[in-house]
Amino acid sequence: MSKKIFSGVQPTGNLHLGNYLGAIKNFVELNNDNQNECIFCVVDLHAITVKQDKDQLKKNILETTATFIASGINPTKSIIFNQSKVHAHAEGSWILSCISPMGWLNRMTQFKDKAGKDKEKASVGLYIYPVLMASDILLYDATHVPVGEDQKQHLELTRDIANKFNKDFDCHNFLKAPEPLIKKNFSRIMSLKDGLKKMSKSDPSDLSRINLTDTKDEIINKIKKAKTDSLPIPSENEKLKSRPEAENLLGIYSSISNQTLDKTLDEFGGKNFSNLKSQLAEILSNKISPISDEIKKLLNDKEYLNKVLTHGANKADEIAEKKIIEMKRIIGF
Ligand code: TYM
Repeated sequence: MSKKIFSGVQPTGNLHLGNYLGAIKNFVELNNDNQNECIFCVVDLHAITVKQDKDQLKKNILETTATFIASGINPTKSIIFNQSKVHAHAEGSWILSCISPMGWLNRMTQFKDKAGKDKEKASVGLYIYPVLMASDILLYDATHVPVGEDQKQHLELTRDIANKFNKDFDCHNFLKAPEPLIKKNFSRIMSLKDGLKKMSKSDPSDLSRINLTDTKDEIINKIKKAKTDSLPIPSENEKLKSRPEAENLLGIYSSISNQTLDKTLDEFGGKNFSNLKSQLAEILSNKISPISDEIKKLLNDKEYLNKVLTHGANKADEIAEKKIIEMKRIIGF
């Protein structure tokens, strides 16, 4: 069955292995299936929900675009664009925010995490950010949205917003409630320094994550220093429950080598971590460092990257414009 795919990544720098295994690797697989229509967005409007340096933001937009292409997304097949170039995203977000109850937004756990202790100081944009995400998805009638586990709640909200709009304005199935595509087992990659914390671009320790721009030596060093426990690797899945670091490293190995966790446990069960670490470092550096090299190469050709974004924005605009015109007609403008 053909799928309409939409997903986005924030251009906030330090794209890491969690972004790759949780999202971008799946974008590439979906891009490679000729039956799918894919749209991948550099969500710069989302990025400004927290303060950004303007020169750095510009750089990060191009770096995220380069990461998509270097990872294997083909810009002549899939649409790649940056959100701020298509005005319907912001317009749709306003309309949808007017039908979204505050109670729904109050339940978003990511806002609570990101706003931290001093919620009064968080921007209004950070608070309504999930509505902008709903607008992104619903403007394109996306049927499937590949994301990591941390975005699941936002996708549930998107479905609720779509259904509420259709009900409020009596327009059955005008906005299409999308399905999340979340890879079982590998949708939440954890920090290399603490198996209970998500791998994140904002972690102050660079050793906690593998950046997609890391060199081979940096990758090897980070895996060498990754936290483990003192027991040998178990052979059964069940025994991983109270061992988050072991579970994370085995999960990363399974995902990057496209095999099930059970197969990885068969391979490493009973062995010690040095064995897993040396093989993991090798497979990761073989997979990630060519992407890193390609990102650097693409960043030398800014003209090409800007061309990809402009071409993508024109195509995205054609689709989104039709939807927003119809949306405005439905609400009585
Ligand atoms: P962002 O930019 O934080 O992350 C991009 C993608 O990477 C996934 N991800 C992870 N997956 C597994 N383990 C991790 N440690 C990890 N860290 C990040 C995220 O789940 C995400 O899929 N709101 C979104 C961007 C967005 C979007 C959209 C996504 C805006 N509009 C429309 C889908 C559809 C975000 O901030 O992702």
